[in-house]
Amino acid sequence: MSNKKSTRRDFLIITTSAVGTVGVGAFMWPFIDSMNPSKDVLAGATTEVHLAPIQLGQSITAVWQGKPIFIRHRTPEEIKSAKDVPISNLIDPQTDAERVIKPQWLIVVGICTHLGCIPAGQKPGENRGPYNGWFCPCHGSAYDTAGRIRTGPAPKNLLVPHYTFLEDTVIRIGKEV
Ligand code: FES
Repeated sequence: MSNKKSTRRDFLIITTSAVGTVGVGAFMWPFIDSMNPSKDVLAGATTEVHLAPIQLGQSITAVWQGKPIFIRHRTPEEIKSAKDVPISNLIDPQTDAERVIKPQWLIVVGICTHLGCIPAGQKPGENRGPYNGWFCPCHGSAYDTAGRIRTGPAPKNLLVPHYTFLEDTVIRIGKEV
């Protein structure tokens, strides 16, 4: 596959009910959040995402309730690296198994838990930080391949949203009301 094709695919936003795109580097979240519908309008919103087009090792950004959702099709190496970390080394201790339903699919809210920037690491060639997950250049928080905070000022792991598998490669993010 050509680089051009690969790059184009990496920018696909694959959703059926979400709107808009998010995929730029770090910037402050409240700026976008201020343009969103009110909380009561969003309360029941769900987003369905078809995962099949996402190639191994690729990440895409979906949008759910106005938030960027990072979806990474993890490689066996990325899964192993996430599983091999001793829990005692973690700032916000969570096993990899607690953060995924299917190990190959990591699904997290792409908002740094420090002050709300959007971490880098979604686009090809972007700095994923020392733990090969995401890196927030705002103040230097680094997340691993399970989206767990490993270094820097962020106090918590990237949030895992509620989601369910509707089919083998189709998820619904959010709860239906
Ligand atoms: S907002 Fe991410 S490190 Fe400060």
